[in-house]
Amino acid sequence: MNPTIYKQSDSKVEVKGYGARHYDLMMNIISGGTYPCFIRRVVREMNIQPQDEILDLGCGSGRNICLMANYFSSQGRALGLDIGAEMLEQSQKRCKKYPNVTIKNQRIDELLQYENEFDKVFISFVLHGFIQEKRLQIIDNAQRALRPGGEFIILDYNEFDLKKSPLLVRLAFKAECPLAFDFITRDLQAILRNQGFDEFYIYPHYLGYVRLLSAHKKGGH
Ligand SMILES: C[S@@+](CC[C@H](N)C(=O)[O-])C[C@H]1O[C@@H](n2cnc3c(N)ncnc32)[C@H](O)[C@@H]1O
Repeated sequence: MNPTIYKQSDSKVEVKGYGARHYDLMMNIISGGTYPCFIRRVVREMNIQPQDEILDLGCGSGRNICLMANYFSSQGRALGLDIGAEMLEQSQKRCKKYPNVTIKNQRIDELLQYENEFDKVFISFVLHGFIQEKRLQIIDNAQRALRPGGEFIILDYNEFDLKKSPLLVRLAFKAECPLAFDFITRDLQAILRNQGFDEFYIYPHYLGYVRLLSAHKKGGH
């Protein structure tokens, strides 16, 4: 059987219009009301330090980055990057009350200029929406942006065999971005190891179909 060839134009990761304006509400509904509690737990698992400098790739509505900012002292800071007009509008409005959070309109799937300046790079439900070549560019951007020993924290789907999953999961996945079907077949830890990361920690969520994966940039010790 020929493997499916995915194109970036198949992706749904550039959330726009109604879906973008009501993104948080939709996530709350799709998750049966569990999302606010889930994302707070994820941010706790990030073990944010008061002086951390964090880069959020594809920061969306800004919900996550504002939760992170609650852990900062005056020396902590976060930079969120996104390209969606509706998402940028929401995140800029929401983050106004956090002086150490900056939101920028910038693509994350092209070479970024950040080098050795962040303690953590976070990417949440974004990586699955790119073709593999662009995923590698994003991982490379994260690797260069981190200080040695810094943490790349990926919140996204875990690897699993969709065909062997319960009917409910297969039905829910039908609405997903087509590129997610490819993402769940990839060995993300092996890819990260090849791109200069080690020391992996996994926090499973939603029966293990979602995971928070933390990987450290080599050279920290
Ligand atoms: C599924 S949403 C996730 C948003 C947020 N990370 C969250 O977990 O709530 C995907 C986000 O990635 C952004 N995005 C898509 N392609 C992008 C790109 N090439 N560069 C920057 N952001 C992008 C979209 O605008 C959208 O905000």
